[in-house]
Amino acid sequence: MANPNHALAGSSPAPDAADPVKLADMWSVSGQLLHTEAYRRTHARLLAEAIGHREQKILDAACGMGFPMRELHDLGFTNLCGSDADPDLIAKFRALLAAAPATAQWRPRLLVATWQELPQRLPETFDVVLNVDAAIGFMDSWLPGEMRVGPAQIFARVVSVLRNFHAVTAPGGRFFIGLQKNNHKGNSFYPMFVGRMSIDGGPAEAQWDMSYDWARRIKTWVNTVRIDGRAFSQTRQSYLFDLAELGDFLLAAGFARVERLPTPDDLYEDILIAHRGDKAA
Ligand SMILES: C[S@@+](CC[C@H](N)C(=O)[O-])C[C@H]1O[C@@H](n2cnc3c(N)ncnc32)[C@H](O)[C@@H]1O
Repeated sequence: MANPNHALAGSSPAPDAADPVKLADMWSVSGQLLHTEAYRRTHARLLAEAIGHREQKILDAACGMGFPMRELHDLGFTNLCGSDADPDLIAKFRALLAAAPATAQWRPRLLVATWQELPQRLPETFDVVLNVDAAIGFMDSWLPGEMRVGPAQIFARVVSVLRNFHAVTAPGGRFFIGLQKNNHKGNSFYPMFVGRMSIDGGPAEAQWDMSYDWARRIKTWVNTVRIDGRAFSQTRQSYLFDLAELGDFLLAAGFARVERLPTPDDLYEDILIAHRGDKAA
């Protein structure tokens, strides 16, 4: 793990400053605070039980710094491939793997690829495709991109990207997708204290403030990280839809049926499992 003090060095400590901090660096801190050992273990065991046979060919298409790929590997899954749009997060993942003890050497196939280009970059299929850790709404905004405007355009965009996940899921295979539990229509503002811990010897904590504009279908996430008393803040928008709508989008994208994988209250996301029909389409 990169030292977050180094990772964030040179960026403005003013929470309202114009976004000079890379999201990968902010995420490397707040992701650690969210993904405690207990969180990782609970989440990965739940996935492992639902996935079943350890030999299945698995793609984690939002692998970032490696959660839950590393945990699935520890649980015995051997055929794992990771992809992500963010080269900085893939680099952090590789650095974590390189820092592992010699007895735990593991070098999975990792590639930088957006969901928008997935079938072209990975012209093969997988028994299980993962897009968990509440990533999907960021499809056009994790790395600054052009976001669609208005509900109809946003919904069409989400369905077209989900078609790419359908394309890389093998006939008879399954696509696991996570969505924040707080994405429900009763919410207009949701403040969340993410956690506090010592990172690289210094105190670190994170606070997320999320606002929901259901008319525009835009969620605004203010991620504030404090390290050694200095505050760094970053604002990102994402597309906004609830779990029932995501289920409908998956069917519109070609999946044959969708089921819910119940998650305990302390997991931040709900998970849907979309089944691809048996015949190649
Ligand atoms: C909430 S983070 C999850 C990170 C990961 N679980 C980890 O351990 O770091 C969301 C991830 O989705 C990725 N992502 C967002 N939009 C993407 C896109 N259009 N194509 C591919 N990856 C994308 C981000 O780069 C980021 O790694």
